[in-house]
Amino acid sequence: MASYASIITHAAVLILLILSSFLNSFAKHGYSSSRHHRHHSHYSINATSNPRLQQAYVALQAWKSVIYSDPNNFTSNWIGPSVCNYTGVYCAPFPNNTKIRVVAGIDLNQADIAGYLPEELGLLSDLALIHLNSNRFCGILPQSLANLTLLFELDLSNNRFVGPFPSVVLSLRTLHYLDIRFNDFEGPLPPNLFAKNLDAVFLNNNRFTSVIPSNFGLSSASVVVFANNQFGGCLPPSVANFASTLEELLLININLSGCLPPEVGYLYKLRVLDVSFNKVVGPIPYSLAGLAHLEQLNLAHNMFTGIVPAGVCVLPNLANFTYSYNYFCEEEGICMNLTSKGITFDDRRNCLPDKPLQRSKKQCSAVNEHPVDCFDFHCGGSGGGFATAAAPMPLSPPPSG
Ligand SMILES: *[C@@H]1O[C@H](CO)[C@@H](O)[C@H](O)[C@H]1NC(C)=O
Ligand SMILES: *[C@@H]1O[C@H](CO)[C@@H](O)[C@H](O)[C@H]1NC(C)=O
Ligand SMILES: *[C@@H]1O[C@H](CO)[C@@H](O)[C@H](O)[C@H]1NC(C)=O
Ligand SMILES: *[C@@H]1O[C@H](CO)[C@@H](O)[C@H](O)[C@H]1NC(C)=O
Ligand SMILES: *[C@@H]1O[C@H](CO)[C@@H](O)[C@H](O)[C@H]1NC(C)=O
Ligand SMILES: *[C@@H]1O[C@H](CO)[C@@H](O)[C@H](O)[C@H]1NC(C)=O
Ligand SMILES: *[C@@H]1O[C@H](CO)[C@@H](O)[C@H](O)[C@H]1NC(C)=O
Ligand SMILES: *[C@@H]1O[C@H](CO)[C@@H](O)[C@H](O)[C@H]1NC(C)=O
Repeated sequence: MASYASIITHAAVLILLILSSFLNSFAKHGYSSSRHHRHHSHYSINATSNPRLQQAYVALQAWKSVIYSDPNNFTSNWIGPSVCNYTGVYCAPFPNNTKIRVVAGIDLNQADIAGYLPEELGLLSDLALIHLNSNRFCGILPQSLANLTLLFELDLSNNRFVGPFPSVVLSLRTLHYLDIRFNDFEGPLPPNLFAKNLDAVFLNNNRFTSVIPSNFGLSSASVVVFANNQFGGCLPPSVANFASTLEELLLININLSGCLPPEVGYLYKLRVLDVSFNKVVGPIPYSLAGLAHLEQLNLAHNMFTGIVPAGVCVLPNLANFTYSYNYFCEEEGICMNLTSKGITFDDRRNCLPDKPLQRSKKQCSAVNEHPVDCFDFHCGGSGGGFATAAAPMPLSPPPSG
């Protein structure tokens, strides 16, 4: 999927950013010259002589003792006080005192390690980044991670973590990048998650339920991925609070219902919007015509009705518009011939009179005889959406085919 490719690029950019910010941070303290470093190369780089590395040694040995499988031998050299020589452990001069080296990063990506995260990880209080992508770490996150007051980037993706949303991350003031996708976290998201200063939030492929919190604070995220969870409810209009930063919003397969709120059209920086595989009803809001940067729009596999508005089809950067498997009954203006604009599109399985591969008349009339009133839609849960006045579900699930 195109959007995922750009997310990966985004992550790479963030990693560069983080390293350069670490570098800047000690440059600011006047120790940026490498010549200077050569003259003062008496770093205390082993745990015997440096209390911070001594603490790191305790933490890393505790961690090693709860690693049950390490098929690629990442931790087999985690022996002795030279923690900076351990595979996957990265030391850097401490920003405030470059004569001291500290453990600034842990990168065990793709190590396939099985084990868990012990309380002692709280001793690694100088960490700026933790990358544990694609391992078999299980259990819950220790509360002691709250001690990692410099942590900027936390990637726990593709592991076996369980339990409720790890609320300890909410206390990490410097955290900018949170990736917990592909785990087994469950239950509701904490409402204040989006009040944090996060650049990117990946929550996809977990077991989150409840609804997307309706009180999105003023958020600074540029990428938010909710995909493949079981939120249900409506997309809250407060999504507009992401307006000044959000570039990618992926809501694929999250059991989303109700109408798309017009506020989505306020997200003027959006490049990718994907709400496919949900139960969204009603029309495409005309406000989407304001998304001047939009490149990818996927509305497929929902219960959208009404017309495909010309205002969306003329968006200057639109390259791929997928709206198959809905109940649209008219394509306005240029939407009828997106080929002429060089836009990749998929309009199959709708109710478009002059197009091939549409739904049967019977399926179309069953749905179009009961138009949706977005202002009278019951969103379920405490979710946002429009009015929450109790009204019966206006539509039964679409017939297959
Ligand atoms: C650790 O550092 C101290 C002082 O810098 C040194 O005397 C000692 O030999 C080192 N130990 C190891 C195992 O490198
Ligand atoms: C890891 O170490 C064990 C024991 O030394 C060895 O048998 C195995 O081949 C090593 N595995 C890898 C992937 O290097
Ligand atoms: C750690 O790595 C440095 C640089 O690669 C090397 O000089 C040193 O001998 C290593 N220390 C130990 C204890 O392996
Ligand atoms: C580094 O120094 C600054 C200013 O001197 C101080 O505010 C900050 O708390 C220090 N950071 C740490 C981790 O000691
Ligand atoms: C937090 O870090 C400090 C050192 O910065 C350490 O002394 C303390 O034991 C740590 N607390 C926990 C709970 O790990
Ligand atoms: C999907 O959301 C609806 C409420 O909109 C809820 O009743 C249903 O249980 C949810 N389905 C799943 C699989 O979570
Ligand atoms: C267009 O988007 C759809 C849905 O995301 C995707 O399956 C398809 O591969 C995309 N086509 C191109 C040419 O990017
Ligand atoms: C769509 O536009 C192209 C180029 O402008 C034209 O060749 C083609 O006949 C049009 N298709 C239809 C169905 O109108």
